[in-house]
Formats: sequence, C-alpha cells, structure tokens
Amino acid sequence: MTPRHLRLGVNIDHVATIRNARGGRHPDPVRAARLAAQAGADGITAHLREDRRHIADDDIDRLAREIDLPLNLEMAATKEMLAIAVKHRPHAACLVPEKREERTTEGGLDVVRGQSAIRPFVRELVGTGIRVSLFIEPERAALDAAVALGAPVVELHTGAYCEAWAEEPGGAKARRELKRLEDAAAHAAAIGLECHAGHGLSFDTVGPVAAIPTIAELNIGHFLVGEAIFSGLESAIRRMRALMDKVRAESHGQKSA
Ligand code: PXP
Repeated sequence: MTPRHLRLGVNIDHVATIRNARGGRHPDPVRAARLAAQAGADGITAHLREDRRHIADDDIDRLAREIDLPLNLEMAATKEMLAIAVKHRPHAACLVPEKREERTTEGGLDVVRGQSAIRPFVRELVGTGIRVSLFIEPERAALDAAVALGAPVVELHTGAYCEAWAEEPGGAKARRELKRLEDAAAHAAAIGLECHAGHGLSFDTVGPVAAIPTIAELNIGHFLVGEAIFSGLESAIRRMRALMDKVRAESHGQKSA
C-alpha cells in the first residue's frame, strides 16, 4: 500500500555554496535547516564533499547537535568520510560517487562493478547503527547489488528524468525516464529495499515521481535554494511539501473510491 506520507529531505548544500562565495557565516545552513523543519521537511540532507566546496565539517557538527530532524549525510565511500560518519552517527548515510571535477553528483554509484570496494563501508556504517542508502541509477542490476551489499535503502537518481523533462516537458524521453524510475521503484519494493529518489527535482517534475507508490522519500536541494531567492526558503519548501502531499492524497482517494 502506498504510504500516505512521502517524506521530504531538504538538501541545504547550496545555502553553504552561497555562504562560501564570500566566506563568513551568512547565509547559515543550520538556520536553513531550522526553517526547513518549520516548513514541513522530514529530514535534512547534506553532502560533505572531499573538497568541502559547500558543507564544511563544522556544519555537520552543528547540524548533528542543533537540529532535531533526522540528518542524512551524503558521503563518498572513503576512509575520511567513514570516520566522520561514525563520529557523528547521523540517522542515515547515503553513499554517493564523487569526482572532484564534477559540478554535481552526475550519476549513481557503480554498485555492480564496485561491490567489493563498497561492501566494507556498508558493513561498518550498518554496524554503527546508521541507516545506509546507496545512490544508484534506476536499474535492476544496481538494485540487486544493493541487496547483495546489505544496504536497506536505495536512492534512485532522478537526474536523467529531470533533464529529459527540461528538454521537452512530458515528452517521450521524459516518459521513458519516468518509466525507468517506476520500474526500479517497483523492483526495489519487491526485493525488500526502501526506495528514495532525488536529484534535479523541481515544482514541475516532482509530481510524477511523488506518484510512484513505493517511493518513501524525496531529497531535494538545488531547486529549493534557487527558488528561495524569489519566494523565500520557507515558502518554497511549503509549496514542494504541498505538491507532494496532493499527489499522495489523490492516489489514496483513487484507491478508496
Ligand atoms: N540526492 C542525492 C544523493 C544527491 O547527491 C543530491 C545532490 O547533492 C540530491 C539528492 C539533491 O539534488 P538537487 O540538489 O539537485 O535537488
């Protein structure tokens, strides 16, 4: 049965990007996290990159200490990040691929070929009591590999769907990419994985993804921080929350009708 409540994780990385453009403390990503909580977020997501281009170590310290919402730490599978995760024990850790030269996380983790490299990280994080998720492409082989690795959660990369939508909203390519997400989310549920999704989602693209019944959580950042420039962060998050809730309410209405 479709969970009525689709969780929203607000990614605050780009509040830190703006802060870092000038140095200093403003705008403060921890303040953004507090506002996100008031606006209906269910969790805070932050990616501590190797090059610290946005979130810094001190932000993770403060998020872990000062924010009541569950923290989802996005991290590369490296010894340095593992030590930080074990120290802070966030609610969840999402393992992501990371390349220094990329502008953003361009694709999912290669969990099929990279199994033996990723396995010790999953084992140690799970052993520490952290809920591990793997950021993957919406592909059956990657989902099966996630199960083999012992990860309880996967996050499907929605970037290709969002890019296709930007090229032609509702066009054939966007529909094809959406179908890949739908099939992957169905397979995830069938093999016992909790399924999340994210990357590039906006007011225009969130609806069809929120309608996928077996997706439990969406993680959204860049669009919300960008939209905050025009409407304010709280208003942007509230609107995203409302769009997600509307889709879930409609699918429940249809089922009980
Ligand atoms: N999920 C994961 C695993 C990510 O790496 C990112 C980007 O950091 C997001 C979700 C959020 O993507 P966006 O900022 O494009 O909404």
